[in-house]
Amino acid sequence: MEFQLLFCCTVCFVVMVYGYKGRGDDHADHRSVPAMYIFGDSLTDNGNNNYIPAIARSNYFPYGIDFGYPSGRFCNGLTVVDYGAQMLGLPLIPPYLSLASKGTNIGLEGFNYASAAAGILDETGGNYAARVSMNAQLLMFEKTIKLQLPSKFKSQEDLAEYLSKSMYYIAMGSNDYINNYLMPNLYPSSKLLTPEGFADYLISTLSNQLVRLYNLGARKMVLVAIGPLGCIPSQLSMVNGEHGCIEHVNYLVRVFNSRLLQLSKTLTSNLPGATLVFQDVYKAVNDMVQNPNKFGLTVVNHACCGNGRYGGAVTCLPLEKPCPNRNKYVFWDAFHPTQFVNQVIANRSFRSEASVDCYPISVGQLARL
Ligand SMILES: *[C@@H]1O[C@H](CO)[C@@H](O)[C@H](O)[C@H]1NC(C)=O
Repeated sequence: MEFQLLFCCTVCFVVMVYGYKGRGDDHADHRSVPAMYIFGDSLTDNGNNNYIPAIARSNYFPYGIDFGYPSGRFCNGLTVVDYGAQMLGLPLIPPYLSLASKGTNIGLEGFNYASAAAGILDETGGNYAARVSMNAQLLMFEKTIKLQLPSKFKSQEDLAEYLSKSMYYIAMGSNDYINNYLMPNLYPSSKLLTPEGFADYLISTLSNQLVRLYNLGARKMVLVAIGPLGCIPSQLSMVNGEHGCIEHVNYLVRVFNSRLLQLSKTLTSNLPGATLVFQDVYKAVNDMVQNPNKFGLTVVNHACCGNGRYGGAVTCLPLEKPCPNRNKYVFWDAFHPTQFVNQVIANRSFRSEASVDCYPISVGQLARL
């Protein structure tokens, strides 16, 4: 009796200590989710566009200069999802198209379907030739769970359980603005729809896509806001950015983001068992652009690697020499943040404590639900 009690207390103590450590330490050597599935554009693409006839590619030096080699990431180093995966206890998630030849001999930690130039709308990014739109990324995910994953699980229930515990990271919409709405010569959207009307159209399209993801088994989803596109060197070079960020472009993004936050709330209450977290990347990047000193940053309006005004007229070219002090720049090239900024964003949202950037809970807390 006494022995049993002692034994029980010891077990309880061990469980408490390790349970606590597991929740408190983001870099704990265990997984809070079995897998992460990523849907997105060039901010999260880690090589998919190398496998399709895309113009939007970054498989050349100096891309990857702080990663080791040009992997296809549109950055000097790691992206937000690379850091995020690590913080969830996962390895770097492989680009789905690199595995096409492997048949069913695939891993179970998830896939990255993101494709540079892709958008919520199928037509977005057409000016960059091939890209995998959100609808096409969902088709690849459907193929993954119908053809590639079933042989790895004992039963359909086990597969469904794995899918419901996995993390789904959806970072889409930037190109629906910079490679659609803000290109009136190539796309009619801005002549047909007001900023509010266009945002409504994007959100209703995305809503259908997310319901499809839910019906395929997803439960833990992160909806990533669009960053302050009016601050990127490419936009600064097109409009005179002398006085800082282009406010009318940031306004368009905020109209979309406020509806995206609302969508996360609506779907969480309408889809039984689903939790959607809104990750406010706009807030994080804007904070860095407005208060660079707080982060040890010094250059907020010029690309580390790029050409012309603000380094944003022509983006980083093959073999171009980038800035040496990359941790001082917000932007790596005409469109994308530096690895440093990506790490700040990940640190602010993937931790297991509450986050000022995430609603209603942090990505780390979502993982542990
Ligand atoms: C992110 O968090 C890690 C772990 O606490 C820390 O080592 C790193 O310096 C942080 N990175 C940035 C850019 O703030």
